[in-house]
Amino acid sequence: MTQFNMKSDDVSKDIKLREVNNRDEEAGLLISRLKNEKIIIYCKDLVKDYAIGDFIVRAVDHISLEIREGEFVIVKGPSGAGKTTLLNLIGGLDSPNEGEIYNSMVKISAMREDALATFRLINSGFVFQNYNLISTLTAEENVMFPSKLAGVSFSNQRKRAVELLKMVGLIDRREHLPFQLSAGEQQRVAIARALVNDPPIILGDEITANLDLKTSDKIKSIFEQLKSEKKTVVIATHDTKLIDLADRIVLFEDGKIIKIE
Ligand SMILES: Nc1ncnc2c1ncn2[C@@H]1O[C@H](COP(=O)(O)OP(=O)(O)OP(=O)(O)O)[C@@H](O)[C@H]1O
Ligand SMILES: [Mg+2]
Repeated sequence: MTQFNMKSDDVSKDIKLREVNNRDEEAGLLISRLKNEKIIIYCKDLVKDYAIGDFIVRAVDHISLEIREGEFVIVKGPSGAGKTTLLNLIGGLDSPNEGEIYNSMVKISAMREDALATFRLINSGFVFQNYNLISTLTAEENVMFPSKLAGVSFSNQRKRAVELLKMVGLIDRREHLPFQLSAGEQQRVAIARALVNDPPIILGDEITANLDLKTSDKIKSIFEQLKSEKKTVVIATHDTKLIDLADRIVLFEDGKIIKIE
């Protein structure tokens, strides 16, 4: 009897081991495909639910999407479609309930929060609708901040911040606090901050929504430069100027991709 039990235990261990091996082999094959095809973002069957009490909102509903290195992708769709949720998942600000995400060939959907925080510091630059600058830091200190967290030396943090503030046309505002900057200037500082650790992917959420046409022109030209540098950019927006830069437009509705143009 004992012997029989041992055998059946051995069989189930063997089956489990084979399942693990198969999964490892599948993951290995997937990673080599991502590498060969230069796929920097891979989403498979993503689901994100938000629970408010007993009520569940499915913000992202079985999304599969692949984005290649250097692509400029626009995500478009009505309010509540799930655009912000998708960007947050891609950049590792949030984790899915189901499905897989690989960002720069790293499976981030299975990462713990602390590892994810380090990952996104280096791999994803975020630009938000409301800028999210730290109110007590100057423009220059705001730009330097993510590189400080990444352990870059002070002199290199500063050098890079100066370079980026020049790029966004705000070197003469380096000592200004956020409240001493216009909305458009704050957003340009936020873009410089997103670029400070030279992340391979830039994610933007309605980045020109609160800005006038002239300022959104300036922001467009910054993103034109990023496009020419072959940065991967994913932006949720309705701004036709930014849409003009798109290699692909992903149309979103009710948490689903309804069309890719
Ligand atoms: N933290 C949250 N808790 C609960 N529900 C949420 C949360 N975040 C988003 N949702 C819900 O998920 C759905 C998708 O929201 P999301 O913000 O991704 O939409 P969106 O396409 O970015 O909309 P908008 O164009 O208005 O920014 C919405 O129905 C929203 O109410
Ligand atoms: Mg949104």
